[in-house]
Amino acid sequence: MKTLEKKPALHSPKTVTACYSVFDHFFPACGLFDLTEGMFDGNPDMPLEQAQLKQIDYVLDQVKCEPHRRILDVGCGYGTLVARAQERGARALGINLSLEQVRHGQRQGLDVRQRNYLTLGREWNRMFDGIVANGSAEHYVQPAEAAAGKADEIYRNFFHIMHRLLDPRSSARLVMTAIHFVRPPNPADLLRNPFAFPRGSDAFHFALLARSFGGWYPGPGQLRRCAEGYFTLVDEVDGTEDYHRTSEEWLRRIRHAFGSKEVLRIAAASLPLMLSHPFQFPTMLYCMLVSQSWNWQFRPPYPPVQLLRQTWDYVPASSKIRLPLASEYWKERSVERSATRRGMEALPRRRRAKSPVPTGHSREGTAIKPPA
Ligand SMILES: C[S@@+](CC[C@H](N)C(=O)[O-])C[C@H]1O[C@@H](n2cnc3c(N)ncnc32)[C@H](O)[C@@H]1O
Repeated sequence: MKTLEKKPALHSPKTVTACYSVFDHFFPACGLFDLTEGMFDGNPDMPLEQAQLKQIDYVLDQVKCEPHRRILDVGCGYGTLVARAQERGARALGINLSLEQVRHGQRQGLDVRQRNYLTLGREWNRMFDGIVANGSAEHYVQPAEAAAGKADEIYRNFFHIMHRLLDPRSSARLVMTAIHFVRPPNPADLLRNPFAFPRGSDAFHFALLARSFGGWYPGPGQLRRCAEGYFTLVDEVDGTEDYHRTSEEWLRRIRHAFGSKEVLRIAAASLPLMLSHPFQFPTMLYCMLVSQSWNWQFRPPYPPVQLLRQTWDYVPASSKIRLPLASEYWKERSVERSATRRGMEALPRRRRAKSPVPTGHSREGTAIKPPA
């Protein structure tokens, strides 16, 4: 697919890009090219590769992937879903923060680009019939932003951007898989040294995870609230047990690689990264192999998180309803909330949005470049 865009600055959170640079030394070396959960259908004997293909096909079915449909994969990892969508006859494009992953995808001949979804300009508007975000939403909000109360606004802005990228003339859909908090921690705790907390506590593990991977999860119902006016949730499936099985298999394979001669090659290849990220690199290894915080979050009997696979239908913009921009929406909500708190009888009348309506709703025909 061709777009008219100039390549913008990436503006990516450093912890996130660094974590995938570190992963790049382990995952492919262990034969792992999918960075989300597989779908085992309750069968513990199913090989991981088969389970991951099942998950990709499930996501593609949900987004109605069929010949000629235009699919965007936000946070496409090594491009396995983009490749499968192409096999199914769709026109698929992936974006990703990680340069190593983008290069891997490009070597496979896939249309994958190093972009942050936040920087997709107007020339991308209405380019797609379906969008997938398979495991990338965990990185959209950083703990410092959650601590500053910005999470809702960031998720709302994400839905706003996805909405304008979709073509309202198609049966447009968004499919997401995202880890959600079941026991949300205090975001300020994730900014502290993990060892300030009792070993094994939620705060200890979540602070380690945040330092290693860079991110914050949505809470129960948060995405649904933030999607209001842009998308309607039409299907939701719990995949926590699938992520548990997948993570245990990842751990098994990584340990196996560390116990073999492969570890020397991995160590030599990782040396520059160890020097450039002297704190994050050992923290990640500790988090994955020693505290096993990644696996801890999915382990029964009371996992503190939940993996949800969510399918969203595009909400067409009615000409009578002018959606405010994300930031205005939340400003208005806080005015309403503080008015309610003060016990005022009449709430201030909703202001009409001064800024243009979200571009996905624009009637003036923004620069839409059809896929080549
Ligand atoms: C857990 S991995 C999932 C990768 C892939 N979807 C898969 O299933 O294997 C998350 C991916 O999202 C990407 N990502 C995170 N935030 C992003 C953003 N703001 N824009 C684009 N990609 C992003 C990361 O670079 C990473 O490749």
